[in-house]
Amino acid sequence: MKVAVLGGTGRMGRVIAKQLSRKNEIAIGSRDAARAREAAKGIGGSEGMDYPGAAKWAEGVVFAIPYPAMKEAARTAGDLAGKLVISAVNPMKVEGGMFRHSMEEGSAAEELARMLPGARVATAFNNVSSLFFEREAVAPLDILIATDGRKTFDEVAGLVKSIPNLRPLYAGPLSEARTVEMITPLVLNLSKLNGTKSLSTRFVSPGEAAR
Ligand SMILES: NC(=O)c1ccc[n+]([C@@H]2O[C@H](COP(=O)([O-])OP(=O)(O)OC[C@H]3O[C@@H](n4cnc5c(N)ncnc54)[C@H](OP(=O)(O)O)[C@@H]3O)[C@@H](O)[C@H]2O)c1
Repeated sequence: MKVAVLGGTGRMGRVIAKQLSRKNEIAIGSRDAARAREAAKGIGGSEGMDYPGAAKWAEGVVFAIPYPAMKEAARTAGDLAGKLVISAVNPMKVEGGMFRHSMEEGSAAEELARMLPGARVATAFNNVSSLFFEREAVAPLDILIATDGRKTFDEVAGLVKSIPNLRPLYAGPLSEARTVEMITPLVLNLSKLNGTKSLSTRFVSPGEAAR
């Protein structure tokens, strides 16, 4: 698939783009095309573009953008009707020393879907730290995907599986994106409170646990 990673110059975007480049064509998207081209040099065969250029070129668009900048990035990207859109965006705040989801209700992914009519929007990759993707071989992890319809899930799952060791798990329709996004503050709090580095999501069934 031709995948544009908006925010592909950032911590998460850069490593997701690199991992996806094993099996997909990649465009790094940046507000600054020159910065995008510079970042693309680190990923063989990829190109660097501004947001509208990358979004137009792509079949699938990953948003790896800080939540406060997400709406502006979506506006700049332009018409994404008919395209697959994956939000890795986590709206977060720190309150009383604890990470929390920062929206009163709903999710970043649903907000994105409202802004992008005709796009097939999913949330995915939210709960895994970029540190896992920096390694050449990613650890066995579960990637939770919320989206409307199994067909779109299958498309996202295909992308997830293009990165060895990742298991896509269906978390339900896009209305469940809030639940998926809320796991991120949970794992950050768990890491902080228990002195472990960057915990992430891996679910086990009894059979697997017994092995
Ligand atoms: N870091 C992680 O481990 C991780 C894991 C899972 C999910 N996420 C999610 O991924 C998103 C990006 O996180 P990140 O840690 O990669 O952030 P980051 O390192 O700060 O990178 C974000 C990128 O977004 C772009 N951007 C566009 N508008 C921006 C603005 N107004 N201000 C700042 N940057 C802007 C920037 O690219 P240009 O300046 O080139 O346009 C920047 O490279 C967040 O929603 C986060 O919750 C992160």
